[in-house]
Amino acid sequence: MPSNPCPRSPRRRRRAALGSLAAVLAAGLVPLATVATAPGAATAASAPQADRRLPYQDPRLSTAARVDDLLGRMTLAEKVGQMTQAERADIDADPAQITEYGLGSVLSGGGSVPDPNTPEAWADMVDRYQRAALDTRLGIPLIYGVDSVHGHGNLQGATVFPHNIGLGATRDPRLVERIAHITAEETRATGPQWAFAPCVCVARDDRWGRTYESFGETPELVIRMETAIDGLQGRPGQLDRPDRVLATAKHFAGDGLTSYDESKAGTGAYPIDQGVDQVSREEYADLALAPYWPAVQEHHVGSVMPSFSSVDWTEDGLGNPVKMHGNHELITDVLKGEMGFDGIVVSDWQGLRQLPGTYADQVETSVNAGVDMFMEPYSGSSTGYPQFTETLTQLVQDGRVSHARIDDAVSRILTAKFELGLFEHPMTDRRFIDQVGSTAHHRVARRAAAESQVLLRNEHRTLPLRSSQDVYVAGSNADNIGNQAGGWTLTWQGGSTNVIPGTTILDGIESAASGDVTFSEDASEPVPAGAAGVVVVGETPYAEGFGDVGGPQWAYDPGDHGVARPAKTMQLSEADTRAVETVCAEAASCTVLVVSGRPMEISPDLLGQIDALVASWLPGSEGSGVVDVLFGRQPFTGRLPVTWPRTVEQEPINVGDADYDPLYPYGFGLRTHGHAHR
Ligand code: GLC
Repeated sequence: MPSNPCPRSPRRRRRAALGSLAAVLAAGLVPLATVATAPGAATAASAPQADRRLPYQDPRLSTAARVDDLLGRMTLAEKVGQMTQAERADIDADPAQITEYGLGSVLSGGGSVPDPNTPEAWADMVDRYQRAALDTRLGIPLIYGVDSVHGHGNLQGATVFPHNIGLGATRDPRLVERIAHITAEETRATGPQWAFAPCVCVARDDRWGRTYESFGETPELVIRMETAIDGLQGRPGQLDRPDRVLATAKHFAGDGLTSYDESKAGTGAYPIDQGVDQVSREEYADLALAPYWPAVQEHHVGSVMPSFSSVDWTEDGLGNPVKMHGNHELITDVLKGEMGFDGIVVSDWQGLRQLPGTYADQVETSVNAGVDMFMEPYSGSSTGYPQFTETLTQLVQDGRVSHARIDDAVSRILTAKFELGLFEHPMTDRRFIDQVGSTAHHRVARRAAAESQVLLRNEHRTLPLRSSQDVYVAGSNADNIGNQAGGWTLTWQGGSTNVIPGTTILDGIESAASGDVTFSEDASEPVPAGAAGVVVVGETPYAEGFGDVGGPQWAYDPGDHGVARPAKTMQLSEADTRAVETVCAEAASCTVLVVSGRPMEISPDLLGQIDALVASWLPGSEGSGVVDVLFGRQPFTGRLPVTWPRTVEQEPINVGDADYDPLYPYGFGLRTHGHAHR
């Protein structure tokens, strides 16, 4: 197993322990009033009201003392309930399920939102569920999780930032921290106290549908951007603040190292997402585990989510893939043991159900591997959390899962809830709710969009454009805020018809240009003489395996289940290609912006027709930021976070490979001056 590249830092600091008071209280449960007014101590005019709080209810005690006291009071059923996470759609009609099962957590999956989808409705929803949790015998508060992966993307009106691949291009860890802090503020103010972010995946094959969730193809770059964890959580001891949330390093580990399985391409299965890491232990340590050491030991990440993928060590001979959700060696021995992770390991969506054996076998394997909380979202008796709680209880009673393992899991969960301040302040603190989608937050989104732009080609110093020039705009992604936001925006898969507050790239151009602006998506309108051409091409939104090259062609979305979407290819659409050829042939200059979750193929012939080429990634809600660098209000400073291949056949291709011959190498990026051209 890996050597530890980081010296072991002290484990997460807990609140200063009031040792003596705690010891007395924990032992004798003496009412606070007596202890507080020991003989001879000055007493108020009237003896203070006797305090009937139990130790776990007393914020003056250490978190450890409160956890120990509460754990000692819990039944097995209550402990198993704390290890269970349901999806909101399955309990919304009957929140009493939370009370009945003593559920420890509820989540919003991608696109699972209250109606109306407003900040107040979110906070009201979470508080309604919280009241059900507080109705339980011990009144243990609920923790609510959501995928705030580029802002609180599920929430209509939230500030939506560039996806991680664009943030990796900024090489700006302080900006990433600021973005995460805004994300935490907009998330916590609307109810959820837990973000399933950041993905600290190292994306090695751009055919993977989750490449855009990665900060880049090297662990060094990913590690630099783990300031995202600090932005979300604050420093140790700040988790109880109304602008902080528990973070999640995901997906542990090696989600971005899976091999592409050609046999699955075009079959409706995922050719690479949730696949198998066929690597050596050394390569796995260097590429998959490396980001988790600092995430745990320097940033004190509060939770870790295992990957759907498997590991198949080449030393042991291929043919024995072990799913991460059942990997005791990596979760317990390495993550919890060697790294010293003392937070929550939370499963991914029904992740345990991908393990071999009966459901009882799956639960036994995953719990004993070290997973602490289980995303068993559904309410069906044989498909979700009812089955899970019943099965785990039976496994403990049969001795297949130890009480010690249960107590370890529940202690981790309770520790997070105490540190989040949920016992003292279980209901949503809405003091920042008016900041959701604020002008100040969008200003940061605009800066992030600008810094994420990577200038790959700039013949004849085409860029920056002069604002006085006429501009002709074309391409599928010029005026589509849903496409520039990408997946995990309002819906799980995102959507070309999803509309969020912000500006498209066309909006930005129309604001910046003082000359005439013509927009013709398919470039069918005539190109005015002397006009500068800007063609914005790229991908339509997707998430997870639906974004795999050769992956399923339909997107499972409540809004458009079964609607055929183009299979992902990493090639430009025919319409976009034609638009580029038309504009580059007729305009005075020709700039192409690629709005996509990953590099896309630009053939030598097409590249020869292009004057300037920009990787725009998925810039989020502020297309105006893309235009800031286009017109020189900001300089181009972005650098490739992933290698840009000549063709998809080169994938996987990464810096450091032998015979490395990409179109543009990792780290490449041209710069321009920071002043606007008149
Ligand atoms: C998904 C994703 C994971 C996400 C979870 C909850 O399957 O793999 O990243 O946090 O479900 O939405």
